[in-house]
Amino acid sequence: MGSHNRTKDLKAGKIAITDTSLRDAHQSLLATRMRLVEMLPVVELMDKIGYHSLEVWGGATFDACMRFLDEDPWERLRELRKGFKNTKLQMLLRGQNIVGYRHYPDDVLVEFIKRAVGNGIDIIRIFDALNDLRNMELAIRATRQEGAHAQGTISYTISPLHDNDHFVNFGIALKNAGADSICIKDMAGLISPYDAYELVGRLKEEVGLPVQLHCHYTSGMASMAYLKAAEAGVDVIDTATASLAMGTSQPATDSMVAAFQGTDYDTGLDLHLLSQVSAHFKEVSCGYEIPRNVMGVDTNVLSYQIPGGMISNLSSQLAQQKATHLLDDVLKEVPRVRADLGYPPLVTPSSQIVGTQAVANVLTGERYKMVLTEVKNYLRGLYGKPPGEMNADLISKVLKEEKPITGRPADLLEPQLEKARGEIAGYIEQEEDLLSYIIFPNVALDFFKRRKGELPPLELNSSCVNGRAVNEVKEKKNSDSNGQKLKFEALYSIDETLIWHDSGNIVYPVM
Ligand code: CO
Repeated sequence: MGSHNRTKDLKAGKIAITDTSLRDAHQSLLATRMRLVEMLPVVELMDKIGYHSLEVWGGATFDACMRFLDEDPWERLRELRKGFKNTKLQMLLRGQNIVGYRHYPDDVLVEFIKRAVGNGIDIIRIFDALNDLRNMELAIRATRQEGAHAQGTISYTISPLHDNDHFVNFGIALKNAGADSICIKDMAGLISPYDAYELVGRLKEEVGLPVQLHCHYTSGMASMAYLKAAEAGVDVIDTATASLAMGTSQPATDSMVAAFQGTDYDTGLDLHLLSQVSAHFKEVSCGYEIPRNVMGVDTNVLSYQIPGGMISNLSSQLAQQKATHLLDDVLKEVPRVRADLGYPPLVTPSSQIVGTQAVANVLTGERYKMVLTEVKNYLRGLYGKPPGEMNADLISKVLKEEKPITGRPADLLEPQLEKARGEIAGYIEQEEDLLSYIIFPNVALDFFKRRKGELPPLELNSSCVNGRAVNEVKEKKNSDSNGQKLKFEALYSIDETLIWHDSGNIVYPVM
């Protein structure tokens, strides 16, 4: 392996830091609305810090760039790459779902990875919502083929089927599939410090790859988990700059660096420089209203084992139906739906699928009276193989005579790259546009039309980097400047088009 292989760079005992401020932190706290112009002023400073890597791309940022910010995600990546001369850049990839909400054909996945690496990504963190290795193997292979670091991810969850044995076995399978390192992705902040200690220690010993721990602070346990993980030999932890940390985001970089200072785990990072980074993002975040329910500690996460972001989505969905009083019923229904579906970890897209079906079950007053298309597809096996058995009665009720598939879902999909090219010939300005279009057909097409001046630009919120509004994209058309701050309560509600609308375009073969 070339310069991408981190294994030999890591010194025993020392903890390395992946900072998530430019991706997960603002996805968690600011509904993924941070703009490139808010990032660029701090790039030079962050590049001096000495992070193991920066997570800057993937996850929901790709969609949000085009849908809400009138930004080309590829251009964002290139700009960041240009600025970060010394620091590795990392992205989050949803395996065969790429950065979308359903499976894409192999030719699209391979081309996406090629372009992501070509535009500047060094490390790709690859996960599948069901921990179905078949949905990750090609992504791992393609990443390595491009010379980048393929990080295999264990989506961490708690269920009657999931224990550390299960996760260690999955870690071994990821290694056999070619992963360069292992990430424990604790998206709901569920892992306890002692479970983290045991799991990290066992992965280090039984898998033998570098281990990275990614926790959300939601339940309040994440920094304790990091401390115990360090004692168990974790190589890298994911943190966010202090001003964008905690709540549903990651533990604070600054606090973890301070906690390890002078110990065997010392990160070697400079707290003074880090506080300047934090100061920048503090200023940025003043342009946003961070809803109270993403800050602080949410112990419901522990009782319901539902990610914090998902609980706020559910309450928004109910509020739209004027049914807030049913939240408790929905929170109790979620684990039942999850059990019916074979205990998937709750992460995009399974969290949306399970959550929305639970809301439907409660609102209609009868379980599965209405079955969402995506639940049908899930029961058909089109998302892959769940960790456990799905409810057989539900399968026969919904699928009738039809038998679920048992193969790899993407094997059913026809190649799509060349076919799509003809559909948007008039809008392609770079090869990457083709991928944006295939993954989010409607969102990308609207974005292309705005780019070409065929549609008016989006209204963007003003941000206040350096104390003044940075607003070069938008021409203020309305005099109504009270609406400058985004209404985040609304933005947190599930945008159903994310799942249902765009997926209407491409289809699995009718069975
Ligand atoms: Co995360």
